[in-house]
Amino acid sequence: MTPNILAIDQGTTSSRAMVFSASGEVKSRAQKEFDQHFPADGWVEHDAMQIWQVTSQVCRDALAQLAGGDAVAGIGITNQRETTVVWNRTSGEPIYPAIVWQDRRTAETCKAMQSAGKEPDITDRTGLLLDPYFSASKLAWILDHVEGARQQASRGELAFGTIDTWLIWKFTNGKVHATDATNASRTLLFNIHTQQWDDTLLKLFNIPASVLPEVKDCAADFGMATEGLAGRHLPIAGVAGDQHAAMIGQGCFSPGMIKSTYGTGCFALMHTGNTAQPSSNRLLTTTAYRLAGVPQYALEGSIFMAGATVQWLRDKLGIINNASDTEALAASLPSNKGVYLVPAFTGLGAPHWQPDARASICGLTRDSGRAEIARAALEAVCYQTYDLLQAMTEDAQMPIKTLRVDGGMIDNNWLLQALADITGCSAERPSITETTAQGAAFLAGLQLGIYQGLDDITDRWQLERLAVPKMSEAIRTTQLNEWRSALNKTLQS
Ligand code: G3P
Repeated sequence: MTPNILAIDQGTTSSRAMVFSASGEVKSRAQKEFDQHFPADGWVEHDAMQIWQVTSQVCRDALAQLAGGDAVAGIGITNQRETTVVWNRTSGEPIYPAIVWQDRRTAETCKAMQSAGKEPDITDRTGLLLDPYFSASKLAWILDHVEGARQQASRGELAFGTIDTWLIWKFTNGKVHATDATNASRTLLFNIHTQQWDDTLLKLFNIPASVLPEVKDCAADFGMATEGLAGRHLPIAGVAGDQHAAMIGQGCFSPGMIKSTYGTGCFALMHTGNTAQPSSNRLLTTTAYRLAGVPQYALEGSIFMAGATVQWLRDKLGIINNASDTEALAASLPSNKGVYLVPAFTGLGAPHWQPDARASICGLTRDSGRAEIARAALEAVCYQTYDLLQAMTEDAQMPIKTLRVDGGMIDNNWLLQALADITGCSAERPSITETTAQGAAFLAGLQLGIYQGLDDITDRWQLERLAVPKMSEAIRTTQLNEWRSALNKTLQS
């Protein structure tokens, strides 16, 4: 009997654990939300201890659902990226709450560094932009604001990690302080060309090397998990940031292949092979994955609000009861009736990077109601994806024909079709849309010898639904022009 793999997907709002069989079937799953803290305007924090408790709990729950004969060979971890934790190496206690990727408290620091002309060199080394989204300025903030932290760090008493590193530390009872190349690539401290922590960046952000984890391949030996699993001991064998794991789960292994994940936000990554393709359009260049010491790269476009806009319709406007209501509402209209929603609730990400932009709805008339607004919210995701794909086409000089999509929001068939119509690309939804967790399981399976290579993984990808573009070119052009004008109004206000 082939063994199963436990995949952990530690996300921004919940932790999930899923056990996959070697053939990719989901054998059990458990999920639990945890608290979001907003202590000041633009600040977002998590309790790292709660993340550990919730994550180990869902692992125990998923393992407990397995039948007696079901063996588990190891663990793959995937996680919300950039979120920053600093803890004491002796006590294993965080010295400050985790500062979440959405947190904007270091915006001024980043702006000042930009004004001092630091961004081009940082981008050359990391592929990223000088934005509070990434870990470096958050880590420096913790070291500067927690009393005694800098002294403790200089004595080697503190450890820094993104959430993968924190979980590995807890699972291995402090024996392993490690991350993988994809998570390291999101810190602004890691040189994606040399695949090493970069001394120039460490100096620039005033980060002592003593706090940094060891950087490993995505399929590697991350130690033995001995804690939190109700007595089981399992090797941690695969690690990748969530968007990178989704690339693996979607089988995007050759240049030009794109996956786009629609969760809280939307993250589209295009595989660019062994070239770290710089962007002239303010996309990010990032390590797609690293296997056997060889990095593969991607261009990434990040949109901060996708499913979160639908949550806003439900929780703040109260115009829907469930996210899935948007499908029937959007389909009930023959057209969008000129209504556009620009979802800049937390600023705009790629390709604009305008942290201060704020959301707007344009084109409302007395006749407009919940259907128009719901449809505008869904269409906004499509227009923003179109903008990312345009930027990718220009940067990579590769025409885009197909998009592999996943994430909870894309269960919506109306959205899937609208995405194909507006981007002009075929949108492919796989039979297993849990591609993030599955990618983590695949990575662990590679390390554990369950899969012999990426071809084994490619063979497991199966199409569930294909949407091909059907909209007339005239309507498409009109809508894209109207979107552009709504966007410009938002950017100028
Ligand atoms: O870069 C942030 C991203 O990794 C968060 O993903 O799915 O937890 O919202 P998610």
